Amino acid sequence: MNQNSVIPQHIAIIMDGNGRWAKLRGKERSEGHFAGMMALKQTVIAAAQKGVKWLTVYAFSTENWGRPQAEVEALMDLVCKGVEMNAAELSENGIRVQVIGERSRFSASVREAIERIESITAKGENMTLVLALNYSSRSELTYAVQQIAARVKAGEMEADAITEQTISQALYTAAMPDPDLIIRTSGEYRLSNFLMWQASYSEFYFTDTLWPDFGEEELTKAIEAYNARDRRYGLVK
Ligand code: FPP
Repeated sequence: MNQNSVIPQHIAIIMDGNGRWAKLRGKERSEGHFAGMMALKQTVIAAAQKGVKWLTVYAFSTENWGRPQAEVEALMDLVCKGVEMNAAELSENGIRVQVIGERSRFSASVREAIERIESITAKGENMTLVLALNYSSRSELTYAVQQIAARVKAGEMEADAITEQTISQALYTAAMPDPDLIIRTSGEYRLSNFLMWQASYSEFYFTDTLWPDFGEEELTKAIEAYNARDRRYGLVK
């Protein structure tokens, strides 16, 4: 990578194409998700080494509950397995894990796995890995509006005192910077209910690579493409 490259502070990834990767190899979709977890691990380590401070990944959307039960179960198992297999290494690499999304729908064992990895890695200072689990942007915004409306109703604030900051602060991502770069794999060009508020000024990078084949090399390409962009935030240079 070019030594003068600017490293995006926050990269978000829509990890797509696990199912197609598996199908191409005559494997079960769950094997594609397992391969996806291995790709995630490589990408996390590479991002931290490059100096990325925040990496957010879309691991399970609120819509994913509608997939066949066996696949949902495989993904839930993968959350638990992923914690078991990776917690120590993430912690050793100074990577803090945080989860965004509605947790109450998960089984007790999945909730415990999430809490365990958050607490084991809590002191990590190199990079924060944000796992979006049972996350969608519309549900996040709906929940935020409910919280703000309740404060207005309780007389804690006036409706016309609601600012963009009030809304940002009511989202799961309140303590995080907005993503500078959003990557989507597998040749799809959609946001799919991911970080819609936060993506207002993000740059987008799309690749045909299926998620299990993603890794350091692809991450480098995405960062190089980001460096060729001219971010104006609606202003004139
Ligand atoms: C999209 O591919 C991927 C997902 C719905 C799951 C993403 C999960 C991982 C990468 C596993 C690691 C993460 C954890 C923590 C569970 P797809 O199944 O929609 O692929 P397709 O479009 O080719 O069918």
